[in-house]
Amino acid sequence: MSDLDTPTSYPLHIHHHDPNAKYDPPQHLIDNAHVKSFDQYQQLYQLSVKDPEAFWSKLAEQFHWESKPTGQFLNYNFDIRKGPIYIKWLEGAKTNISYNMLDRHVKNGLGNKVAFYWEGNDPGDNGKITYNELLVQVSKFANVLKKLGVNKGDRVAIYMPMIVELVICMLACARIGAVHSIVFAGFSAESLSDRILDANCCALVTADGVWRGSKLLNLKSIVDRALEICKDKGKPVDTCVVVRHLTPFENSNGVYTEDSPDECPVAKRPCTKLKISWSPERDFWWSDLMHDASEYCDPEWMDAEDPLFMLYTSGSTGKPKGVLHTVGGYMLYAVATCKYVFDLQPDDIYWCTADVGWITGHTYVCYGPLGNAVTGIIFEGTPFYPDAGRFWAVIEKYKVTKFYTAPTAIRSLMKFDDSFVTKHDRSSLKILGTVGEPINPEAWLWYHKIVGNENCAIVDTFWQTETGGHVITPLPAATKTKPGSATFPFFGIVPALLTDDGKEIVGPGEGYLVFKQPWPGIMRTVFNNHERFEITYFKKFPGYYTTGDGAKRDEEGYLWITGRIDDMVNVSGHLLSTAEVESALIEHEAVSEAASGETFSDDLVKELTAAVRLKIGPFAQPDYIQNAPALPKTRSGKIMRRILRKIAVNDRDIGDTSTLADESVIDFLFKLRPKDA
Ligand code: PRX
Repeated sequence: MSDLDTPTSYPLHIHHHDPNAKYDPPQHLIDNAHVKSFDQYQQLYQLSVKDPEAFWSKLAEQFHWESKPTGQFLNYNFDIRKGPIYIKWLEGAKTNISYNMLDRHVKNGLGNKVAFYWEGNDPGDNGKITYNELLVQVSKFANVLKKLGVNKGDRVAIYMPMIVELVICMLACARIGAVHSIVFAGFSAESLSDRILDANCCALVTADGVWRGSKLLNLKSIVDRALEICKDKGKPVDTCVVVRHLTPFENSNGVYTEDSPDECPVAKRPCTKLKISWSPERDFWWSDLMHDASEYCDPEWMDAEDPLFMLYTSGSTGKPKGVLHTVGGYMLYAVATCKYVFDLQPDDIYWCTADVGWITGHTYVCYGPLGNAVTGIIFEGTPFYPDAGRFWAVIEKYKVTKFYTAPTAIRSLMKFDDSFVTKHDRSSLKILGTVGEPINPEAWLWYHKIVGNENCAIVDTFWQTETGGHVITPLPAATKTKPGSATFPFFGIVPALLTDDGKEIVGPGEGYLVFKQPWPGIMRTVFNNHERFEITYFKKFPGYYTTGDGAKRDEEGYLWITGRIDDMVNVSGHLLSTAEVESALIEHEAVSEAASGETFSDDLVKELTAAVRLKIGPFAQPDYIQNAPALPKTRSGKIMRRILRKIAVNDRDIGDTSTLADESVIDFLFKLRPKDA
């Protein structure tokens, strides 16, 4: 169960909370803001949904387009009854996103501006890179990729820690038109190989290893196992590039030995003596390849609708789906949402704590901030290392102005004494964002009062891997916020709430959250499986994009996301399908139907937990496993997960059970439920 439900000692003053209490935008933001009032938001919003071309073409002017669109500015079909679903923005226009993130700013005289500060896992370990330097590194690595035989349209898998090379690699792919497919470096070898195989990647870029807090991860050994699986399945990956992040300088094979030096000559930090193995015909050190690569690489001019990247997200059948985003629309949307939602200004120090392995990192660590030419932070560590004040220490160190993290992090941090926060100077902060799951008002208020000193706008941003960027969100100088509400649609987004039989709910009410028309950042397809795209998002309610989330609208029109209404669970802000976890569990012999066991012991719980870690990754391991000798099923044999969910949170209000084959199962499961879970 999530940490939301564990007892905490919340400060007294935030116990009683009025759900309609509203928080004004901070005065200090308003004068200089891009959108200064709710009226102005509404005017722009109306234009954005009534005349998308007028609205988005204005925003597109800041970018370099090598040529103009040849077709319609927006061309789409959202209605599966009328034919296949398609969405095309700026079709025929040519551009390159790496050019717009880098060359454009360098040409505008911003070359010496810091693009990223890098803050390592250890507080003493840090670095920075300017826009000029980033352009050089990206061009060099783009040339490296070309030399390795990577072509436009090829997929490149990336399995890397939060280091600058990760962003260099993404942009290098984008520069030559290769499609990056990043796999969060917390996924297991098996999950990594699944994704490499599905995307048919021709190369993989990784690092030797990484420290995450006090835990050491040997990434190269996970990669070795993943590539072994690919080979066994008849689809070997010929090229693996390895960034030397932890290991000391090479002997002749480039591999750590007893004689290797104790200090890493690259990063001047103590070396981790990580043993890695090496396949000389397949593995290359990043530094060797970069050594004599040319610093110039002409960008590949891409069609706006060419693929930029794919990123896997859980699917309710258990098999992850490769969400595909394209160059032009994604660029427009990432840069626009980042600009307006964080009200970006030239002197901002912007920090999104998400790992680039998730969509939040793609859009709001890499493309959004770079496109706006601000200074960002790439953070390798965790919120708890060396102590629970790390976030606030980093904010103090770099004088962060805009900060973006997840409710799960906020909830864990608020359990510690407030002095972990207050001993650090946070006076630079102006906007605090959250994303990933509904934020409970207690956590919102703690974020606002303790972290933000009641002086920052809180932006609770709802969106998905599929949406590319924020879709329901306040604007910091325009929207009065209510703790727990993601408030109103971003530009171009037309939300609706539907009843189960597809009727639009007008006014206050609760229903399925859907969108009525496309915005530039919406995904275009599921890689190699357009049918799955149509079925997942467009079939249940023809004419709408279905988010899979529920939401309610209050009397004042505020939207409150209530969470997933399909078989997906949100684990620390990351979606997992129950089917994915179940299929990991079901392989254990004691599990007849995931969630039910014959002998239920502590050892079994440990084995099952380990099975999930191995199959999916450590982040997915269940906090709690309940014995369930029987499951609530319909007469046709379908497990009623809605009821399991209620049992998990000890909610007896389970609604209609008339389709259940055996109602007594419910009482039985409630009785088995431990008191403290
Ligand atoms: O259920 C919603 C939840 O996260 C899901 C999307 O997960 P993912 O594609 O992994 O992307 C997470 C980061 C964008 C959504 O369907 N979610 C995300 N943000 C919020 C949220 N739920 C409530 N409030 C949010 N602000």
